[in-house]
Amino acid sequence: MKGLKGIILAGGLGKRLHPLTKITNKHLLPIFSRPMIYYPIQTLVDAGIEDILIVTGGMHAGEFLRLLGNGKEFGLKHINYTYQEGEGGIAEALRLAEHFAEGSSIVVILGDNIIEKNIKDSVSGFIKQKTGAKILLKEVEDPERFGVPELEGDKIVGIEEKPKKPKSKYAVTGIYMYDNKVFDIIKTLKPSGRGELEITDVNNSYIKKGELTYSILDGWWTDAGTFESLLRANNLVAEREGGNDK
Ligand code: DAU
Repeated sequence: MKGLKGIILAGGLGKRLHPLTKITNKHLLPIFSRPMIYYPIQTLVDAGIEDILIVTGGMHAGEFLRLLGNGKEFGLKHINYTYQEGEGGIAEALRLAEHFAEGSSIVVILGDNIIEKNIKDSVSGFIKQKTGAKILLKEVEDPERFGVPELEGDKIVGIEEKPKKPKSKYAVTGIYMYDNKVFDIIKTLKPSGRGELEITDVNNSYIKKGELTYSILDGWWTDAGTFESLLRANNLVAEREGGNDK
């Protein structure tokens, strides 16, 4: 998959996990046998993406370098890093990747998103699509915690961020594929009610242009940004790896 670049967003202050994240970055917390950040890196590497940027921030950014170095453990020759000041949102963190993307299309994964299987087929589908964006959806029991798509036939007609009354049972997962226009779109965004540049606004902008496709993610998916989902992520990975004492 030469040409596609991978970006892992691991900034933010992880306030929902205080006090766990008072003295470390959320993405360095353990998920079963490895630090959280290992899983999104592996997801990109498994999809054949070797040119990877990690966007992080906060007080513990240096620890990423100490932990990961140049990514030898993942078979990588090099990892790129950049630093987000404050926590202005997922789209703000992504904006910092513009120089790294150098005109290429990108695969973006949130640092707290963990999946059971892989995204190879979706990435191949996106490469064939050539322009626009592609997102991955997953049916969940608590869509109100996420970005939620409204579906008409086989099209997404809009996405709402954490709606009180979700218009479908699907969550927009934190795995996004964009052409290079994404950086121009981000420049037009205004902060949301929670003071962040929202990735949902980016996706809605692609929908307006008729350039957003989606697929349904195969296997389980979870985020790990709350106590409940952190525990769930640990249990799911432990089960997958056959490591749960029975
Ligand atoms: O997990 C999927 C969900 O992620 C999507 O369904 C939502 O549409 C999307 O907005 C996002 O929702 P959250 O509110 O759960 O995102 P959170 O603030 O927990 O941030 C998720 C990751 O994004 C976090 O682990 C690191 C990265 N991030 C976040 C912020 C706010 C940054 O790199 N910088 C930031 O400023």
